Amino acid sequence: MNNDILKVLYSKEEIDNACKSLGNEISKTYAGKTPVVVGVLKGAIFFMTDIVRAVDSYMQIDFIDVSSYHGATESSGTVELLQDINTNITGRDVLIVEDIVDTGRTLKFLLDTFADRGAKSIKVCTLLDKPAGRKVDVKSDFTGFKVPNEFVVGYGLDYDEKYRNLPYIGVLKPEIYANK
Ligand code: XMP
Ligand code: MG
Repeated sequence: MNNDILKVLYSKEEIDNACKSLGNEISKTYAGKTPVVVGVLKGAIFFMTDIVRAVDSYMQIDFIDVSSYHGATESSGTVELLQDINTNITGRDVLIVEDIVDTGRTLKFLLDTFADRGAKSIKVCTLLDKPAGRKVDVKSDFTGFKVPNEFVVGYGLDYDEKYRNLPYIGVLKPEIYANK
C-alpha cells in the first residue's frame, strides 16, 4: 500500500501537532458549553477521534454519513444522507468535524440540514481545506492545513475505499488511477 504513494503531504507527527493546536482553539471557543460534535463518516473517523481527545470541554459526540463521490475523484454534485445522527440538535451548539472541504457541497448540505433543525450555533472543523476546489461558498472555522488542488488519501481519506488506514496524508502515483 505504501508503495502506491507518490509523496507524503502531512506526516503523522504534523497531523498530531495540528490536532493539538486545533484542540486548544476549540476548547477556548466552547468553554462552559457542551457542544454536539458531529463527525462525518467515513473520511473524518481518525481525525474525529484525535480531535475530540485534544479538546478540554464537555461534549456529546455523534456521526453522520453522507456521500457525494461514489468512487470517483470528482464530486457528483448531489449529496445523499446515508445515515443520520441520533442526537436532537435543536437549540444546541454543533461542531461539524470533516476530513476535507473540497467543492464545499457536503458542508453546505450539512450546514443547511442542521440550521433547518434549529441548531443554536454551527461551526466547522476540517483537517484539510482545498480552496481551489470550491464550487459553493462555505468556510471552515478551524482548519488544519490548506491543501493544493490534488487528490489526497490517507488518515481516513480514500481512493475507491482504499488507503484510509495510512497513518499520514499523501498523493497517489498517477498510475494507480490509470490502472482503475
Ligand atoms: P466536497 O467536494 O463536498 O467534498 O467538499 C467533501 C467530501 O469529499 C471527499 N473528498 C476527498 N476524498 N481525497 C479524498 O480521499 C480528496 O482529495 C477529496 N476531496 C473531497 C471527502 O470525503 C470529503 O468529506
Ligand atoms: Mg468526507
